[in-house]
Amino acid sequence: MEIRAERAEDAAAIGDVHRVAFGGRHGVVVATLVDDLRASTDESERVSLVAVADNERPVGHVLFTPCLLDAPSRLVTVQVLSPVAVLPPFRHGGLATSLMRRGLESLAQCEVPAVFLEGPPGFYSRFGFVPAAECGFRKPSLRIPDEAFQVLRLPRYEPWMTGTLVYSDAFWRNDVVGLRDV
Ligand SMILES: CC(C)(COP(=O)(O)OP(=O)(O)OC[C@H]1O[C@@H](n2cnc3c(N)ncnc32)[C@H](O)[C@@H]1OP(=O)(O)O)[C@@H](O)C(=O)NCCC(=O)NCCS
Repeated sequence: MEIRAERAEDAAAIGDVHRVAFGGRHGVVVATLVDDLRASTDESERVSLVAVADNERPVGHVLFTPCLLDAPSRLVTVQVLSPVAVLPPFRHGGLATSLMRRGLESLAQCEVPAVFLEGPPGFYSRFGFVPAAECGFRKPSLRIPDEAFQVLRLPRYEPWMTGTLVYSDAFWRNDVVGLRDV
């Protein structure tokens, strides 16, 4: 299956991928998050990749967008991975892994120092993500479980780059940070 950069005409299909993959109200929220992140970032600042089926329709999507690391000496632009999703019939074939690897390669080439995410360590450790708190980073919310707050340090990372991750506004506006009591 082909992995390529998102095109303007993919936006609706990408929304469908997230609505179906995450399901229910959360799926709608994630699709809105993607639209908001797209609208609030320049194309050159983000990495948005799709996996397309034979009919050219996206069946998987990954998005990396810029956020800030509040380091002691200055703010550092880092990237946050959110979301990644693959439609159910296309899962377990390595599509998410390919989307992730391509995205991370591209960020390393763009000299991004670090990538953060919230997610299950079991899936992301294969890409080199490690618990961020153990590397001198503070999570942006106490509602993120420690083990879910992960970082991948890329070749441009330097040891002084520690501190608190500051999510961009779209994550707060859509209330997708951490876990809420139900
Ligand atoms: C997570 C997801 C993107 C994986 O897509 P995929 O194309 O099936 O992924 P790959 O084939 O590259 O890798 C699959 C492996 O990832 C791991 N994995 C998948 N979902 C996982 C989860 N929720 N927790 C831990 N590991 C997981 C398993 O080891 C799985 O191996 P298996 O195929 O032998 O079961 C897909 O299941 C999905 O869209 N889920 C709903 C949305 C979601 O939860 N996104 C991630 C948010 S953090």
